[in-house]
Amino acid sequence: MYADELKKTAKAMVAPGKGLLAADESSGTIKKRFDAIGVESTEDLRRDYREMLFRSADAMTKNISGVILYDETLRQKAKDGTPLSKLIAAAGSIPGIKVDKGVVPLPGCPGEVITEGLDGLGERMKEYRALGARFAKWRAVIDIAAHIPTFAGIYTNTHALARYAAICQQEGIVPIVEPEVLMDGAHDIDTCEEVATRVLKQQFQDLYLQGVMLEGIVLKPSMVIAGKKSAKQASVQEVAAATLRVLKNCVPPSVAGIAFLSGGQSDADATAHLDAMNRMGPLPWPVTYSYGRALQHEPQKVWAGKAENVTAAQAAFSRRAHLNGLASLGKWSPELEKAGKAA
Ligand code: 13P
Repeated sequence: MYADELKKTAKAMVAPGKGLLAADESSGTIKKRFDAIGVESTEDLRRDYREMLFRSADAMTKNISGVILYDETLRQKAKDGTPLSKLIAAAGSIPGIKVDKGVVPLPGCPGEVITEGLDGLGERMKEYRALGARFAKWRAVIDIAAHIPTFAGIYTNTHALARYAAICQQEGIVPIVEPEVLMDGAHDIDTCEEVATRVLKQQFQDLYLQGVMLEGIVLKPSMVIAGKKSAKQASVQEVAAATLRVLKNCVPPSVAGIAFLSGGQSDADATAHLDAMNRMGPLPWPVTYSYGRALQHEPQKVWAGKAENVTAAQAAFSRRAHLNGLASLGKWSPELEKAGKAA
């Protein structure tokens, strides 16, 4: 019923030079981010912070195709009473919603987790659509360590993601399918490549079995990268080449687009990797960003909870969005990182 609209929305989410802002930190995660900048995590301060981002006209009109929101934010109003989702839409960007309920340990699979939130999801989607959301996000988490991930760990998560995606499309919501392979371990890039391949092969098998229309999804993968604790870090070119190898082997060209998570990479690394991939094109799909930390780290530091810092923080956010917008076109350069620090 919604096929044409889903395709149109998915295409708009990965429009040239644009990508997504992941501002859907759960209450626990945003508290961690605020703790790091010495700001108390109250409802009003969370609103002030996110309102600051969504009123960054430069970033929002030029480089942010859509914003992933947390339930609280989708229901919140700006200081002047305008719903925050309306601010986003007024800038020409699309409001989206995180719908998973986080992870719990997966019984029978020590060290692995499963994402919850399928029960009643269709009903929640109806409300989210009425509140203005046109896409959703569900994050599955796959960790790499000795003996994990297991097939059961991978399959349970990709199955849940496919079920979520089918429910989304039935309700007129574009699913962001996010099977994140964590970069927290000590593994090398080859191990990450092998695990990412297993995960994505299984993911597309499950999406097919659940009847999901690939032209109406956005895939949000992690990059293929060595674990943070590995002594053997890969170069920018190696990360870009390995990531594209995996994606080309696993992701059908009918998928509307690929929007990476940043996963704990430095801001500049996340941008450099994206740029390197786009320079290796032409690619079968648009390849862009759906960054949380790599877009917000700078503006958070500059803002620090103070109204007088709003303009400078907006400039810092717009700068990061601009650099990632260039990277999504393969037009970024390391010199741009050094030049013109806004803050
Ligand atoms: P990061 O870019 O900080 O990894 O966040 C993206 C996201 O939405 C994770 O689910």
